[in-house]
Amino acid sequence: MSGLRIIGSGHHVPGRPYSNDDLARVMDTNDAWIRQRTGIRQRHFAPAGQGPADLALPAAQRALEAAGLGPSDIDYVLFSTMTPDHIFPGSAPLLASRLGMRTVPALDLRTQCAAMLYAFQVADSLLTAGAARRILIVGAEAHAGVMPWRDWDILEGTSDRRPSQEDWDRATRHRGWAIIFGDGAGALVVERSQQPGPGVLGVDIQADGRYAPLLCIPGGFREHPYVSESALASDAALIHMDGREVFKHAVTKLPKSIDALCQRTGTRADDIDWFIAHQANQRINEAVCHRLGVSIERMPSNIDRFGNTSGATIPILMDEMLRDGRLKSGQLVCLVALGAGFHWGSLLLRT
Ligand code: UT7
Repeated sequence: MSGLRIIGSGHHVPGRPYSNDDLARVMDTNDAWIRQRTGIRQRHFAPAGQGPADLALPAAQRALEAAGLGPSDIDYVLFSTMTPDHIFPGSAPLLASRLGMRTVPALDLRTQCAAMLYAFQVADSLLTAGAARRILIVGAEAHAGVMPWRDWDILEGTSDRRPSQEDWDRATRHRGWAIIFGDGAGALVVERSQQPGPGVLGVDIQADGRYAPLLCIPGGFREHPYVSESALASDAALIHMDGREVFKHAVTKLPKSIDALCQRTGTRADDIDWFIAHQANQRINEAVCHRLGVSIERMPSNIDRFGNTSGATIPILMDEMLRDGRLKSGQLVCLVALGAGFHWGSLLLRT
């Protein structure tokens, strides 16, 4: 059976990396805690004025170049982000027009850290239905705008000031999530293979909105007006995350999903070459491997360098693995992720 095939990839992260010590200038945290609890050493932040479409542009250009294609060869854009350039319109048409694609269908997906599971399933369905021949899949995030500090100059180290006590306390109240997120973009070009072999072999995706309060930005259009001084003062525009609960759900739901997917597709976990997992916390991925009885070497990681880039983690990691030769055609790959919604699950792919 011929199916979806990845023919190009690219990624981009903005500016210089920010170390854990940099973060410790604006809130009560420290390098040892962050490394031990998450595996993160540094992350990148988009500068003011740059949104996910800006970060996605060089990533998409690299993916097209790797595929040996131009923008006119793409007939669909799927863009996953939870930090869009605007409340509306979505980031997909912005990216498409910046690439010079004038009228190509461009769809934003809102499944947060589980982005790539949904994007691959939608891409596969579009290719199978004959609605598209080549699709640009992008995951891109600019979390910098939601960070709980104002003193970017102090974080940058360009000012000797100390944050005000109020700013320090506010950032510290949000330190649980503020230290995990970072910015970046990953892009993949996929097409329907002419040869038998590659393709999406199975999908196990679930969603349960009862868990939305555990990880969300509560602000939105239920409020009149949707942005108000009181909403800002109550931090309704910031991320709210019950980290411990999200962690518990991830380490129980993800192995279950992989088990179900393996059963359904008649695959043994041992047959899978790579488990390419969302990079939320290295401890989550270690626990998932432990429960599956799989060596952590088969679940690659780059969280130490990029932090948690939400919808971008999987395409960034796939791009690194394709470029350094770890990810080759003919391999069996399991994508794994859980994120806000909740949306979670796993997807089996023959490359
Ligand atoms: O990508 C989307 C999905 N998101 C996730 O999957 C995230 C899942 N959750 C996690 O990764 C972890 O829960 C966190 C990294 C967010 C937090 O790690 P944790 O081991 O669950 O820490 P905790 O929230 O249970 O806090 C433990 C202690 C607390 O102090 P006390 O009460 O024990 O004195 C916190 O106040 O660590 C303290 N703490 C920190 N200390 C220094 C929390 N954050 C920090 C920090 N620096 N940044």
